[in-house]
Amino acid sequence: MTALPTTWRATILTLFPDMFPGPLGVSLAGKALASGLWALEARDIRDSATDRHRSVDDTPAGGGPGMVLRADVLAAAIDAADTGQDRPRLLMSPRGRPLTQSRVTELAAGPGPLIVCGRFEGIDERVIAARGLEEVSIGDYVLSGGEIAAMVLVDACVRLLPGVMGKQASGTEESFSEGLLEYPQYTRPQEFEGRLIPEILVSGDHAKVAAWRQAEAEALTRARRPDLWAIKARQKRPKSPTDG
Ligand code: ADE
Repeated sequence: MTALPTTWRATILTLFPDMFPGPLGVSLAGKALASGLWALEARDIRDSATDRHRSVDDTPAGGGPGMVLRADVLAAAIDAADTGQDRPRLLMSPRGRPLTQSRVTELAAGPGPLIVCGRFEGIDERVIAARGLEEVSIGDYVLSGGEIAAMVLVDACVRLLPGVMGKQASGTEESFSEGLLEYPQYTRPQEFEGRLIPEILVSGDHAKVAAWRQAEAEALTRARRPDLWAIKARQKRPKSPTDG
C-alpha cells in the first residue's frame, strides 16, 4: 500500500514565534497556507528552557562579546519538534552554504524542513553536529537573526508546491535552473514616456521572440553575474581529461 502524501510542512524554531507567519501569511504563500496546501508551525525555543528564568543563552566560553544559545536548550527544542519523520534540519546562518534554486527545489520536493533560527552571537557548536544541522545562508550579509532568512527559504519552496502557482511558475524556474537571469518583460501601453516595446515582441514571430529572449537572458547574465556565466560556459565546453 502506498502512503498518502502528507502536507508539506515548515517547522520553525525561534525565540520570536510572533514573527510568523508574517509575510508568509499574505499573497500567494498566505492563500496557499489558508487553503491547506502547506502548513507552518512556529515553536518557541524558550519553551524548552529548564530553569526558573527560562534562560536560553549564556556567555561565550573563552570570553568575548554577546551571548550564545545553549546546546542543551536548543537540542531539547529540536527533539520536542521532531515527529520521527526524516525531515531536513536546517540552521539559518551567514556561515552556511549559500541557498540555491536547486536546493530549494529539493526541499520543496520533500516533506518540508525543520528550521532553526539563530540569534545572538551564535549557537553552541556542539548542537550542530549532535543534531545534524545543515547551515544555510541567504547571502553574504548579516541579518539580526535567522527568522527573515527562514521566511525567504520557505517562500521560495512554497511557490513550487503543487497547486500554489499553477503554470506561471514553470517559465521563471526553467530560466533560472538553466543558469540564466530572466529576460526583460513588457506589457501595454505600446509606448511609455517615449519608450517603445521592442519591435520583435509585437511581431507575432514566435521563433524570433524566443531567440531574442535567449540572447537578452545571456547578455544580462554575462554583464551582471559573471559567476553564473562562467558555470554556463564550463557546461557548454566539451569535457577534457583534466576535468574533475
Ligand atoms: N542569519 C543572519 N544572517 C543570515 C544570513 N545571511 N543568512 C541566513 N541566516 C542568517
